[in-house]
Amino acid sequence: VAALRAVRDYRRDPIPTLETLAQQYGDVVSVNLPGARVWLLNEPSLVHHVLVRNHENYRKTSGSGNTRRFFGNAMQLNNGAAARTMRRMLAPLFQFERVAATWSGVIIEETEAAMRDWGPGRRPGLTRELMDLTLAVAVRMFFGTAPGEETARLGRLYLGAASALGNFMLPAWVPTARNRRYASGVAALDAEIFARIALQRQAGSGGSDVLSALARLEGDDATRPTDAQIRNELISLMAASYFTLGVALNQSLRLLAEHAPAQAAVAAEAAAAKDDVHRLLYTGMVVKEALRLCPPAGLFVRDADANDRLGEWVLPAGTRIFLPAWLVQRDARFHPEPLAFRPERWTAEYEHALPPCAYFPFGSGPRGCIGSLLTEVLLRLMIATIVGRYRLEATRVTPAGASTWPEVEAAGGVQVTMHRR
Ligand code: HEM
Repeated sequence: VAALRAVRDYRRDPIPTLETLAQQYGDVVSVNLPGARVWLLNEPSLVHHVLVRNHENYRKTSGSGNTRRFFGNAMQLNNGAAARTMRRMLAPLFQFERVAATWSGVIIEETEAAMRDWGPGRRPGLTRELMDLTLAVAVRMFFGTAPGEETARLGRLYLGAASALGNFMLPAWVPTARNRRYASGVAALDAEIFARIALQRQAGSGGSDVLSALARLEGDDATRPTDAQIRNELISLMAASYFTLGVALNQSLRLLAEHAPAQAAVAAEAAAAKDDVHRLLYTGMVVKEALRLCPPAGLFVRDADANDRLGEWVLPAGTRIFLPAWLVQRDARFHPEPLAFRPERWTAEYEHALPPCAYFPFGSGPRGCIGSLLTEVLLRLMIATIVGRYRLEATRVTPAGASTWPEVEAAGGVQVTMHRR
């Protein structure tokens, strides 16, 4: 493939570029760049091979120097035994029943508090308000803050550090304005987190948030997490969840605003059972379908350790693999009428008949998303709480495919207005 043109187009407009490459070249697209060889895999059995069948050959990439500075040795960016141990410690916190029992109240309480700020009389559009809401819920679940000002303050500290972390930063010792902003943002955030960990270790309270669960962990010295590890995991959990959840919530509500019958079905379900995640089954199908059409992590990456055979192709060691959930989940070979928003398609039979990795918004295999069930609980409850109270109306404000972040990209170029029911 004409590599430099592909890179230029990809930087400008990633999704259409990948779509064009897949249309032109098929299930395996190889792009040779100066110093890097990239393969784009557009077919479920190939994705499954990389994420599950032969996952040991495919390492998670460790990110740029800047991301490593922010996340430290967090599990998410690492391979090997320490990452496996941390994953084993964290995973039980995010099981469906535990999440539903522990955090349903917090999720509904924060959604209702946010809605009080939106009305009455105001007609909030989506995006900013929903990003703020997901930030508040994430802070409360991970740090165990009190609702209101304490939660908002920690949210601001997190965003202050995260938003100063750019893609193109000079080394830390160069005193650029951005480096200074990043350093002071991280210092303020770290001071707050370490103080909370110390308090938790002293008090040993039985809080249900992730910080106190990690601070309470028993075990031998080799496995008990240090303060720095707890800090790194909390920051990486914030990063993994805040943006993806915010985008998923935006997209789900945008799709409902554009599809009146589905919105009416969610409203009816909310009227009957909006506090009980187990009964929000249609809303669960809406979430699945929104994550199929618009997966917030639309593309993720692995690096091949050794040569491997992938179907009829021989993959060289060192190749970087792109796994585009966005493309596979919109492929008519696996999802009939792929561009239609049809929550009803998500029957047990439909799901059962899908080939492995034809639907993988959360990845798959041993490094799939640890927060997928938390996401399901959270989105069901938030969507039902919001749609139970507001009727959503969609207005297209940019031509399809021409939207820009942050105003409307998360909502696909559509402005959504909420009217109280
Ligand atoms: C709509 C919401 C979310 C989406 C679409 C999403 C998507 C993903 C994907 C695709 C991966 C795998 C990446 C790869 O294989 O390279 C992943 C990993 C991960 N996600 Fe999520 N995620 C979401 C929400 C969350 C939440 C709420 C949490 C918080 C618990 C979370 C925590 C993680 C962690 C810790 C990993 C790394 C797991 C590991 O390295 O073993 N995610 N997520």
